[in-house]
Amino acid sequence: MSNAMNRREFVKSMALTAGALGYWSLVGCNSSPISNGRQNMCGFAAPKLDRVRVGVVGLGMRGPGAVERMAKMQDVDIVALCDIRPKGVKQSQDILKEHGRGPAREFTDGPEDWRNLCQMDLDLVYIATPWEWHVTMAVGAMKNGKHAAVEVPAATDLDGCWELVETSESTGKHCMMLENCCYDFFELQTLNMVRQGVFGELTHAEGAYIHSLVDYMQPKDGKEIYQGAWRIQHNLERNGNLYPTHGLGPVAQCMDINRGNLFLYLTSMSSQQAAFTEHARQTGNLEFADLPSYRGDMNTTLIKCAKGQTIMVQHDTSTPRAYSRIHLVQGSLGMARKWPRKGITLHSKGHRWLDDEEMKEIEAEYQHPLTRTIGDIAKKVGGHGGMDFIMDYRLIYCLKNGLSLDQDVYDAAAWSSVVPLSCKSVASKSTSVEVPDFTRGAWRTNRPLEIVDVDPRLLPMQGVAT
Ligand SMILES: NC(=O)c1ccc[n+]([C@@H]2O[C@H](COP(=O)([O-])OP(=O)(O)OC[C@H]3O[C@@H](n4cnc5c(N)ncnc54)[C@H](O)[C@@H]3O)[C@@H](O)[C@H]2O)c1
Repeated sequence: MSNAMNRREFVKSMALTAGALGYWSLVGCNSSPISNGRQNMCGFAAPKLDRVRVGVVGLGMRGPGAVERMAKMQDVDIVALCDIRPKGVKQSQDILKEHGRGPAREFTDGPEDWRNLCQMDLDLVYIATPWEWHVTMAVGAMKNGKHAAVEVPAATDLDGCWELVETSESTGKHCMMLENCCYDFFELQTLNMVRQGVFGELTHAEGAYIHSLVDYMQPKDGKEIYQGAWRIQHNLERNGNLYPTHGLGPVAQCMDINRGNLFLYLTSMSSQQAAFTEHARQTGNLEFADLPSYRGDMNTTLIKCAKGQTIMVQHDTSTPRAYSRIHLVQGSLGMARKWPRKGITLHSKGHRWLDDEEMKEIEAEYQHPLTRTIGDIAKKVGGHGGMDFIMDYRLIYCLKNGLSLDQDVYDAAAWSSVVPLSCKSVASKSTSVEVPDFTRGAWRTNRPLEIVDVDPRLLPMQGVAT
């Protein structure tokens, strides 16, 4: 049976029984309606789909990888591709062809053509465009009856965060931010260990995005890498943590944020900038040598949580430092940290890092079911070592099988809200600023994210030996 038929039947049956049962009780969701016809999207499950039809918007450095990963999943049809530059569309059509897929419909007629894609008969709009487009496109997708999956950060201002929440709640469409770092191997293991109480009561966590992007944001020969140099433009305009979610997402899941816990307030401080100017001097690209409005090289933000914990999150994309997302979680019984070197300490083992043998034993005992089940395929398919595949697989798996998603719109809003709130704090001598409760109180009763797994028979792969 086609998805269109499913939907027609669903709408018809809904119309017949809506009066008696109420809309949301029909869609098999395990979350409850809230006021004014809105739905609590935490734990929300949409109706199952036979096949998941996807339109991808934004085919620059990031988008075509998603096309390739999803083209390897049997029950996915990539039916539409959109970019203002035809190059990425052509590259993605080639990927589809290599995977024995038919061509997708193309939308390349300017910056508003994505709106036509949203009118098509499809299930999911997958958005990998520059930050300033995320909210408009995700809202447009949901208002046209599609689920939205949007790259990080989902929004760059508070109005945008609220617009995503309100649209998802009122349309009953998922809005998942594509925070792939939540699906990395050690992050998933850490979450499993937290859930099993290995670290006791959590007290503090640290995350970061420390990744020198100067060669991308300020290429030597003035060549365009980010389309229209969008990333440096954001950096020129704002001073704060512009990209918090890679470090924050995985630790927020460990801390049950929006599901029993909440970000309450934060304070943020930025250093001066020096590395960007130095890079400009060394490359001779002097356009960016004098950057009075440029944010500091290192931004450090501290968030206080309702259950008492503190979270430190850092952002530095200009200093020549080794890559790090820190990923540190600590509690009354021990801690785990991923960068600069993976390590675990446990109360039962004294004040020392576990040795290699002990680390292997811990991994064998606490490996997350997701990496146990699809970790090998993920490493073969790839995407940041496999985490991108695990994320995309889990997203499509949940949509196909009518399950709630691991990241909901409240996660997207709360994690992204650190962008504008850190800027506000930096601009006011690190004054403490409140983080809005995007769940409007539902965090007290929302259930924590479970330790999930998948059954690969329910979303078979094609062309990848399993
Ligand atoms: N999760 C991750 O690990 C990760 C990694 C890289 C990038 N990202 C995110 O992915 C997004 C894209 O980043 P990128 O590195 O691919 O940038 P990019 O500049 O290479 O790609 C953006 C693409 O969007 C297209 N675009 C711009 N406006 C459009 C419009 N109105 N309609 C259709 N297409 C439009 C551009 O032409 C370009 O091809 C960003 O949000 C970024 O933060 C995430």
